[in-house]
Amino acid sequence: MAYKDQVDLLKIPKHVAIIMDGNGRWAKGRGKLRVFGHHSGVTSVRDVVEASVEIGMGYLTLYAFSAENWNRPRLEVTAIMELLINTMQKEISMFTKNNVRLNLIGNLEMLPPKYYDQWQTALEQTSGNNGLTLTLAISYGSRLELINAAKKIAGRVKTGDLKIDDIDETVVGESLYTAGIPDPELLIRTSGEYRISNFLLWQIAYAELYFSTKLWPDFRREDLFDAIIDYQKRERRFGMTSDQLN
Ligand code: FPP
Repeated sequence: MAYKDQVDLLKIPKHVAIIMDGNGRWAKGRGKLRVFGHHSGVTSVRDVVEASVEIGMGYLTLYAFSAENWNRPRLEVTAIMELLINTMQKEISMFTKNNVRLNLIGNLEMLPPKYYDQWQTALEQTSGNNGLTLTLAISYGSRLELINAAKKIAGRVKTGDLKIDDIDETVVGESLYTAGIPDPELLIRTSGEYRISNFLLWQIAYAELYFSTKLWPDFRREDLFDAIIDYQKRERRFGMTSDQLN
């Protein structure tokens, strides 16, 4: 049986989020500069996007650059910024062929204007697609996202648009960068680190967590399928008992 056939296509998570980690270590292990690891990570991104399309996933969110990553050496920051936008521009035809819509979340005001404009163009070029939504988290930090949401909600209360008693999970969800995107059912982190690193803190409240020891540039579609097969074996109880679910 082909590996993909072990995935139950009737139980595909609608939304998978991935913390792509380990590029630097992958490069260092080969005596190369960290940037080499980021470049090699592009192959994994392409493979995982194509595999997600193949199994009919609705949403894939990749943690590409955190708000804290701005503190890395300037050369590395510039290299990642260039790599991200250049890769997306190169992949537009693959996105169109596969009906992939590109989306960005994060504190985009931090992006240098040159990149901001290029991203807007890339987003527009795929805006008509309605298959997989590929969201890249760039300059993203979950605490900042929550602070912004609190400000938005407070603003609505102040203008009388919203009553305090009407603030609920839906209102908070709609105030996040991820408004309109269902919460991820599965969160994968590569590189053997067991951390969430300020990623989608609200949205992963009930996500299943999967940690792979592979470094991101070694991660391939089979590893994504492994994670999904593992997810499909789990019982998601949402606070209920097993008996209640059955
Ligand atoms: C984390 O590894 C990775 C990043 C900060 C950059 C992610 C970028 C890519 C995978 C490039 C391609 C992505 C797209 C969407 C085209 P790290 O540098 O923290 O690795 P380390 O923990 O080993 O130092």
